[in-house]
Amino acid sequence: MERLFAFEHSTSSRIVLGTDAASRLPELVRAHDPDGVVIVHDETLAELASALGAELSAAATLAVAGGEAAKRLETVGELAERLHANGATRATVMVAIGGGTITDLCGFVASIYLRGVPFIACPTTTLAMCDAALGGKNGVDHCGLKNRLGTIRQPDAIVMDPAWLTTLPDEMFREGLVEVVKKAAVLDRERFEELERLAPALRDRDAEATERAIAMSVDMKMTVVLADEREGDRRRALNAGHTIGHAIESFAGGALRHGTAVAMGLVAECRAAGVTDTITERVAALLRAIGVDPDTPAAYTARDRLWELARQDKKAMRGSVPMHVPHRIGEGHDIELTRAMLDRAFATGRSRD
Ligand SMILES: NC(=O)c1ccc[n+]([C@@H]2O[C@H](COP(=O)([O-])OP(=O)(O)OC[C@H]3O[C@@H](n4cnc5c(N)ncnc54)[C@H](O)[C@@H]3O)[C@@H](O)[C@H]2O)c1
Repeated sequence: MERLFAFEHSTSSRIVLGTDAASRLPELVRAHDPDGVVIVHDETLAELASALGAELSAAATLAVAGGEAAKRLETVGELAERLHANGATRATVMVAIGGGTITDLCGFVASIYLRGVPFIACPTTTLAMCDAALGGKNGVDHCGLKNRLGTIRQPDAIVMDPAWLTTLPDEMFREGLVEVVKKAAVLDRERFEELERLAPALRDRDAEATERAIAMSVDMKMTVVLADEREGDRRRALNAGHTIGHAIESFAGGALRHGTAVAMGLVAECRAAGVTDTITERVAALLRAIGVDPDTPAAYTARDRLWELARQDKKAMRGSVPMHVPHRIGEGHDIELTRAMLDRAFATGRSRD
């Protein structure tokens, strides 16, 4: 798959997905008439970085420890110093290789170093391929808050080879797919049905099914982002599952992975909004079929605490807590979460021990 997404007020983004995607990198770099290439990679991906670095005759290959701790202002400063020490100029292309933390961090640095250098993202987790690397949101955490400092700037190119995912643990692999289910549930009935057919193959990590799911995610997310780059009404669809999901994730304090919490949030939000059991169960069944349990453990269902956390979320404003919920498969709408709705989501028998 190859697509060019042209933005009116932003860089156009070329997205290349497939087993031979990496072979397009030299040409994508040359398009910028660069005076050099610097690779920044998750330190666990040194082998891939060195292979791509050789292909691109990179002037430097810089390792960064991946994970949420990479998204700090200190790392931004360190990376800028390393770019400077390696002679990076405004015409140096930065190529980032890693999960969402590395693409968020590097996208941010690339957007501010010398007021912006060409940037190519090579995401290596399902979450980053299906979500984080797409759509131009970059940034780091600050003051203990996620993504508090950042920019919106589309990468010049996103290059993804599903073969890079083979080293991911199962749980992490599946987590990214929750983002595809989420988007299809509120945006696209046909794709939701296709995912239902693909689910057994996705659970088995079949390469063809995985590539298809990532391609769906690219199309769904980029269609929304093209219509609404800066988080107006349309982009809210991408937050489905995240209102209660974030509250559950914070409640669990690191015991649940983000994708798992979003899966739980997606189903809890359907229940909160009074979506029919048929639709709610269909969303839950698809999540289970890809290998993610969407039932919130009883330990994280104390409603007073969840309500407090939901109201602190960055999307909550002036006392209102917005959600985006599928009222039919493939059709979402905005709705405000109330305390009574939260009670309904976690009424007796709705959680697992
Ligand atoms: N910008 C956005 O629009 C957006 C959207 C969603 C999420 N995010 C951000 O994405 C981040 C989460 O992304 P993530 O889950 O990819 O996290 P991550 O970058 O921390 O990667 C997860 C772990 O997998 C390892 N890893 C990466 N690629 C691997 C591979 N191919 N094989 C084996 N291990 C590998 C990393 O070293 C890390 O330990 C969060 O910081 C979140 O805020 C951003």
